[in-house]
Amino acid sequence: MSPPEPPNGRLAIFPGSFDPITNGHVDIILRSAHLFERVLVAVLVNQEKKPLFTPEERVTIIREVFSEYPNVEVDTFDGLLVDYARRRRASAIIRGIRAVSDYEYEFQMALMNRHLEPSLETVFMMPAEQYTYLSSRLIKEVFSLGGQVTGLVPSAVETWMRRKHGKQS
Ligand code: PNS
Repeated sequence: MSPPEPPNGRLAIFPGSFDPITNGHVDIILRSAHLFERVLVAVLVNQEKKPLFTPEERVTIIREVFSEYPNVEVDTFDGLLVDYARRRRASAIIRGIRAVSDYEYEFQMALMNRHLEPSLETVFMMPAEQYTYLSSRLIKEVFSLGGQVTGLVPSAVETWMRRKHGKQS
């Protein structure tokens, strides 16, 4: 029997809900794509009870946004992130840190993931300053109440949100 294949040192996973993807996420993915040979954007299935977009829609949107980036792949996953990372032979998990308030949750997750899979490293990245206050939750709230989200999400997201809310473009 041959030994198990080692992790692919050039593949990083960027996991998240992405409901919807924001320009903050896009910023982190682009930064990661400079550091790693391949970036796998992994959309978590079955997390929120009432998401705006289905996981399939989120994958379609993110693929649309990164259609010109051959080293950015998009997929869904469920269950433990470390199991998925093992299956994909990734060597790193990318997480964006916006403010100090993110730190505690991210620190807990990173250490739990390390406990579960010591060979998997979590890499924290900061988005550009203008995106530090952005979150998918706020985008959905602002948009549903008629506020402007242009410049905060990719234009594909705005189009999809208009469609969901039955608004004219
Ligand atoms: O965008 P989010 O919602 O902050 O992403 C959270 C995510 C998807 C990274 C996290 O919930 C996750 O990894 N879920 C998969 C289940 C899992 O592995 N849980 C243990 C994490 S320590």
